[in-house]
Amino acid sequence: MKNTNPKTSQLEHSKAKVELYGRYLSIYLNILHRAGFVKRIFLFDLFCGEGIYENDAKGSPIIALDCIRHHFFSNNNSVPNITIWFNDNGMSEIEGGVYKVDRVQKMGSKIYRPDNVKVEFYKENYEDIYPKAIDLVSKTRDAKGLFFIDPFGYKAIKPDDIRKMLQGGETEVFLWLPIAHMYRFADSAVRSGFPGSEPLRLFLNELFGKSIPDFQSPYDFIEQLEARFRVFLKDLKIFVDTFILERDASNVYSLFFFTSNIRGYAKMLESKWSVDPSRGRGHSVEKTMSLFDETELSGYPSKLWAFLDSAEYRTNAELYLFGLENGFLPKHTNDILKKNKSKFEVVGLDGKPVRGYYIEYNSERRVAFRLTKQE
Ligand SMILES: C[S@@+](CC[C@H](N)C(=O)[O-])C[C@H]1O[C@@H](n2cnc3c(N)ncnc32)[C@H](O)[C@@H]1O
Repeated sequence: MKNTNPKTSQLEHSKAKVELYGRYLSIYLNILHRAGFVKRIFLFDLFCGEGIYENDAKGSPIIALDCIRHHFFSNNNSVPNITIWFNDNGMSEIEGGVYKVDRVQKMGSKIYRPDNVKVEFYKENYEDIYPKAIDLVSKTRDAKGLFFIDPFGYKAIKPDDIRKMLQGGETEVFLWLPIAHMYRFADSAVRSGFPGSEPLRLFLNELFGKSIPDFQSPYDFIEQLEARFRVFLKDLKIFVDTFILERDASNVYSLFFFTSNIRGYAKMLESKWSVDPSRGRGHSVEKTMSLFDETELSGYPSKLWAFLDSAEYRTNAELYLFGLENGFLPKHTNDILKKNKSKFEVVGLDGKPVRGYYIEYNSERRVAFRLTKQE
């Protein structure tokens, strides 16, 4: 019989989770490798799990080591200096009497690792280890860091911890939250409380203060959390993005991705759109679920027109950023514009002829888009 226990067998939605992580990591290594000034990259996988599951599926630590090895061999045998921390405080559910992290160490040792990649293994509580990780990145010159926070639950997670991880400006955070569970208990945790509800209440209070809204669905819950995280981290100029994983209605998870780096953010969107080419929004095991409801696909064009309408003109740089902030790639904005050429005009602000839309990262061109007046 098929093993459907998520603790010993990696289920399909978790595969999508580590696939997204792997895709992002390879892009992250490429960007930082080419940006010569980065002297060390830290990867902190603080809930690293079993390594390899009973169905032979690879967990996040193995995905990361594979990705580094691949980067090394595809880049003339070179990779940036990397330090990885694999941490997990749990005993294996697959092998009796063995810590999960010891399995990771054993399995990881079979994967080729360049000499300038250091790997350390810990069995600490997340709450104790994450401050040490923050300290290490902040004390290391010209360093960048990526936190991968993948608990089963959410009890150990506080929004303020995420803030602390991002404070130095050199780090990015992947945070996975069990949304269906949080959504189901949010209302009662806040209004009446029940045994064990305290962490959820504190989590929501930290983000929403005293006025916690009514959440209409797990997706609404994700959107409202995302919006509040943006406000919560506004002074640090952090981009926040989400990606939904859905096994069935009672198993909905969401990635919250945090970065201050616009290129990292754009690359994350590209990774999302490659995992979910039709919507860039998530991965659903049951393709019929509401996550893929067609009506949800149609919001962006009207937002874009409203954005153009709300000012005399918008520049190509503004349209680039607006697309990203709404979870869309330059190609989506370009497609909408191309299909509606009669609705607007484009003029050069730099005196040069205009031959395109120039909606791209750090474009050298400066052009303005203006809605044409409809009679
Ligand atoms: C969802 S699993 C991680 C899966 C892993 N990322 C993978 O891809 O295989 C969560 C892990 O967190 C560990 N864990 C739970 N609470 C923890 C805590 N407070 N500190 C450290 N590890 C914890 C559990 O033992 C479990 O292995």
